[in-house]
Amino acid sequence: MSFFASFFNRNKNEKSPLSWDMHDHLLFGLDDGSNSLENSLKMAEKYVELGYSHITCTPHIISNFYDNNAINIKKQRDLLQEELNQFEIPLSIDFAAEYFIDEKFIQKLKNKEPLLTFSGNHVLIETGFLNIPKNLHEIIFELFANGYTPVFAHPDRYVYFHNNFELAEQVFSTGIKFQLNLLSFIGYYSAISKKFVEWLIEKNLYHFLSTDAHSLKHLNLLPKVWNSKAFSMIDWNRVENIKKPLL
Ligand SMILES: [Fe+2]
Repeated sequence: MSFFASFFNRNKNEKSPLSWDMHDHLLFGLDDGSNSLENSLKMAEKYVELGYSHITCTPHIISNFYDNNAINIKKQRDLLQEELNQFEIPLSIDFAAEYFIDEKFIQKLKNKEPLLTFSGNHVLIETGFLNIPKNLHEIIFELFANGYTPVFAHPDRYVYFHNNFELAEQVFSTGIKFQLNLLSFIGYYSAISKKFVEWLIEKNLYHFLSTDAHSLKHLNLLPKVWNSKAFSMIDWNRVENIKKPLL
């Protein structure tokens, strides 16, 4: 029996077909995600229970809010991995970041400062929710020109797409990869983001499916996601984070 056949023949509440999460806020004390080691460990246990085996931690990097960098992120990652090993929680973690498109990010790109990546050369970027950055296409182009593969965090959540679904198709056509938030599948953020995520799935505009978990509360909702309409529409051949990446 194939992997997918065996998954779908099981109780849908049981486990995720995704073993790798590449967008989350599992590391503690760096942003608006986990705020303590204890909470990170609880989240890690939940990930294992849900069937995950590898997590790429992606703390926010936003100028003047979350000025994280490779050094402090790696320090928190090493600390958490050590604790996971000590408590025999079978979860491996690496790290990248969720870059907010702001002046400082553009400057870094112009100065060719190395960006934090996952799975080779992938860079996770996000924008403000209300307005699409005027220079978004240029930034995407610059990322490609510098050898990166940009990944757009949660297009399903942006209000500027909610008023104009086709605009998302235009952004997708630049070659940027789309990462959908699983909680949009159950309307966690808004009714319109649920409608929009179903449209994105119908149009095959996605590459990654992630939790963007900021707390245990988010992970606890995942079994509901497995039973959602959007989830049943997924073409699993398109999803790049089913199996653990090559590190
Ligand atoms: Fe995030």
